[in-house]
Amino acid sequence: MKLKLRGEPAQEALGRQLAGLLRPPLILYLEGDLGTGKTTLTRGILRGLGHRGPVRSPTFTLLEPYDLDRWRLFHLDLYRLADPEELDYLGLRDLLDQDSVLIVEWPQRGGLDLPQPDLEIRLAYQADARVLEFVPHSPAGSALVAALARHPAEESVDAAKSHREVRRH
Ligand SMILES: Nc1ncnc2c1ncn2[C@@H]1O[C@H](COP(=O)(O)OP(=O)(O)OP(=O)(O)O)[C@@H](O)[C@H]1O
Ligand SMILES: [Mg+2]
Repeated sequence: MKLKLRGEPAQEALGRQLAGLLRPPLILYLEGDLGTGKTTLTRGILRGLGHRGPVRSPTFTLLEPYDLDRWRLFHLDLYRLADPEELDYLGLRDLLDQDSVLIVEWPQRGGLDLPQPDLEIRLAYQADARVLEFVPHSPAGSALVAALARHPAEESVDAAKSHREVRRH
């Protein structure tokens, strides 16, 4: 499935919609060039899960944990990962043992040490918009995409309604 989102509010709104569909344990990869809206989408997800503080890309710390009401979300940004072995220092394996959701920007930098995702979102530029392609890799990922496709315009995406086009493949 592909979605075209025009403007940052639409991108955040999709994140808020996704938030309602996330159930741990889940690993989500966000793949796309610099500035394609990976952190914006993550911010929407965290807002949708009730987080009120700031959401910045953990470019230098690589990992930002969020304690949510019922479970934890770990936001990774591996852009500056010099060597996949550094992942060991982040205690990634311990994080995965927990009841948690993992969102990874720049997953390709993690190499083979990074666990496979349930869902991969590929983000790309398109003029003043972004195109998001959803590629599921597990039954949980497929269920999530199916749920998203069933409700293309929830209340939470009001801001995006007039700016959003859905294409199914
Ligand atoms: N759907 C959209 N349409 C237009 N602009 C967008 C959209 N989504 C995000 N943006 C804008 O793109 C810029 C970059 O967003 P963001 O920081 O989320 O990208 P990123 O993919 O996390 O970048 P990086 O790879 O550097 O971490 C921001 O100015 C944001 O407002
Ligand atoms: Mg980012």
